[in-house]
Amino acid sequence: MSTPEQKVTAAQQSEPRTYQLLIDGKFVDAASGRTFETLNPTTGAVLAHVAEGDAEDVNRAVAAARRAFESGPWAKMTPHQRGKIIYKAAQLISERAKELAELETLDNGKPIRESSYVDIPQTVQHFEYFAGMADKLQGDTIPIGGNVFTYTMREPIGVCGQIIPWNFPLLMAAWKLGPALAAGNTVVLKPAEQTPCTAMELGKIFLEAGLPDGVLNIVPGFGEIAGAAISHHMDVDKVAFTGSTEVGKLIAEAAARTNLKKVTLELGGKAPNVVFADADLEHAVEGALFSIFFNQGQVCCAGSRLFVEESIHDEFVERLANRAKSLRVGNPLNKDTHMGPQVTREQLDRIKRYVGYGEEAGAKVLAGGRSPEAEELQNGFFFTPTILDCVTNDMKVAQEEIFGPVVSVLTFQNDKDLLKQANDVVFGLSAGIWTRDIKRAHRFAKSVKAGVVWINTYNMFNAAMPFGGYKQSGYGREMGFQVMDAYTQCKSVWVDLSENPIGWFSN
Ligand code: NAI
Ligand code: MG
Repeated sequence: MSTPEQKVTAAQQSEPRTYQLLIDGKFVDAASGRTFETLNPTTGAVLAHVAEGDAEDVNRAVAAARRAFESGPWAKMTPHQRGKIIYKAAQLISERAKELAELETLDNGKPIRESSYVDIPQTVQHFEYFAGMADKLQGDTIPIGGNVFTYTMREPIGVCGQIIPWNFPLLMAAWKLGPALAAGNTVVLKPAEQTPCTAMELGKIFLEAGLPDGVLNIVPGFGEIAGAAISHHMDVDKVAFTGSTEVGKLIAEAAARTNLKKVTLELGGKAPNVVFADADLEHAVEGALFSIFFNQGQVCCAGSRLFVEESIHDEFVERLANRAKSLRVGNPLNKDTHMGPQVTREQLDRIKRYVGYGEEAGAKVLAGGRSPEAEELQNGFFFTPTILDCVTNDMKVAQEEIFGPVVSVLTFQNDKDLLKQANDVVFGLSAGIWTRDIKRAHRFAKSVKAGVVWINTYNMFNAAMPFGGYKQSGYGREMGFQVMDAYTQCKSVWVDLSENPIGWFSN
């Protein structure tokens, strides 16, 4: 057994790591023998060589998941026993928290303070919560009267395909696996090709926690190949996806064209974050910063449309721009870094393109708008915290997800004008409002078309609180009791209790 200190050193070594696929309880090469590279976005260097799963590997993984679901020890375990394995995994993650946080930062670029204080602890909390969920899933007895006894059961769905993004690699795996395993399903998980490392470590952790072979299979690989093989597979019963709205539509289409597998989608957003003149402005400035620059802006619920009441616009954006300029962009392994690099060069280029669209349409760059100049950052995919002022709701930068540290500032005159603009977008994932007027805050919470609303706060999460989108931000909810609807199916059972049952056709 290595000590935690040795593991830390391993996480920081410059020699690339290697990862295989996890199929049927064993780490194996891809059938094709192919591998791909995942980079460290801070330096551009290769972090790991990873087995590249394709349709054949997905077939093997689905077959293993099917066997484990129908006939393995998993199928016979009590819910309490399932919960104990999930809880054990949470404990093992806790023990390896420091090493996992570093690996997440190396693969994704997020500041170590975020991976240490958000990603890893939230992952642990998530598994702890769903460990407890396993033996609390129950059906109903339904008193319909007459000589019948009627009850419902909640049964697992079967083999679940789970396709996750790169912005919170380990936490997204936890969001998906916690409820799926608690309910007794088996899983084929595909991490994002940009950030597969911590998911593979999670595979080792679940095996160590005693998860039977085949219950969790992990097939890293590319979306159009491994991801599409999962969404088109005839023996996958359900797909849960988090990522772009564009790919979400492909997944729903694949499900419709194959076996009508159940689908839940957690997609993009363009959240209105609203500041009224009566808000505690200092608090609101900090909230606006956190809502958009957390995780380099690579957050589906980021407050990317900042609506500021016209009367305070000038003062507010000045304070915001000063704070944005003071954020420390740099090596994410440094404890005092606020923003690390974007995850890939592709994402960095996309962000630059959007800043260009904004400027062409008449938006003004009040802060950032470019990559930092420091020499030691030139090999990484860094961008500076960016504020686009004078944005109107019809501009591309107000309507499309940029997924980077770029906030578009808009103004509004009154509640009615605000609501019209806030809801005038294809997304509906989240919203924020900053005001001291409680009636106004709750009126807004009721009228905004979004699945999550934060009042005088932003980006708060707990495994017990449902999360998911309205409109093209997707369907289904993650977390809380609500997510269990996505991982169980309801069976209705009818029992005749009458002593002398008479048949319909008997007279
Ligand atoms: P993406 O939607 O292509 O990737 C997310 C996951 O889907 C990855 O695991 C990927 O391999 C997989 N995937 C891709 N194409 C697939 C296909 N045809 N079939 C099945 N699975 C497939 O997102 P991408 O390209 O990484 O980022 C593009 C944009 O998507 C971002 O700029 C952002 O706007 C949005 N996005 C939103 C996220 C969210 O949390 N809602 C997370 C990641 C990206
Ligand atoms: Mg893509």
